[in-house]
Amino acid sequence: MLVNLKYVLNLAEKGGFCIPAFNVYNMETVMGVIKAAEEMKAPIIMQVYPRLMKEETGYYLSPIILAAAEKATVPVCFHLDHGPSELETTRSLRYGATGIMLDGSTLPFEENIALTKRVVDTCKFVDVQVEGELGHIGTTKDDELDEFTTADDAKKFVEETGVACLAVAVGTAHGRYKKPPKLDIERIKAIREATNNTALVLHGGSGVPDEEIKAAVKAGVRKMNFATDICYAFLDCCLEELQKPERTVAVDNFMKKPIEAVKDFCITRIKLVGADGKA
Ligand code: 13P
Repeated sequence: MLVNLKYVLNLAEKGGFCIPAFNVYNMETVMGVIKAAEEMKAPIIMQVYPRLMKEETGYYLSPIILAAAEKATVPVCFHLDHGPSELETTRSLRYGATGIMLDGSTLPFEENIALTKRVVDTCKFVDVQVEGELGHIGTTKDDELDEFTTADDAKKFVEETGVACLAVAVGTAHGRYKKPPKLDIERIKAIREATNNTALVLHGGSGVPDEEIKAAVKAGVRKMNFATDICYAFLDCCLEELQKPERTVAVDNFMKKPIEAVKDFCITRIKLVGADGKA
């Protein structure tokens, strides 16, 4: 069942759990994610990086995501991840996205507010809600983390933009960590309190220790992103299969195991964030 961002966030808020947001890249990763969600009876988000919406990939991938979501027996939101401008956000709406992220985190504070609010207002016309980002969440290749989000800034940002959820910088980064991150759980609690319990989003979920993830969910994280570990689950399995002398060359048959590998990984995260059985 295809639903919008507000729908899954409301489920998470009411149930005190977190919606896992899985980045997908091709039909096989979509299939792995959907199989996991259905098996676990979990509401989920499937999201795509903006580069896919710039390239022709988005044109082909969006109908696959929509078909999977509409056929699914669980609620699925189709979300744009890290939309940098109105080009990607508008194109994603046209491709059928039911959730949009506008990432203005590298802009000056007031410009981030203005652009995010403009996208929120446009998306409202088609009943789609927006995720904003405040405090830039970088990559694990950066020398050090950017400044963390403050509760006061978050309060002003949420009030002025009307975002449905907010990605915050509290210790995570995108990619494979050199050493496991330590999250600022007290800051997550303070931001929640200052923003009238706005749903908070944790980016860079791959490689965050399980106990940190559980504490973050308890503190008010309602959406958590996993991308890098989906890629590794898929590619490691492909590499392993390629070593086998009896491997098949029929691509559809070859892909069956990598699809299962993605499914198995997603099941572990669905359980960890408490989304199993919540559909
Ligand atoms: P990882 O690739 O570190 O899992 O981060 C995913 C993410 O936050 C996508 O926006």
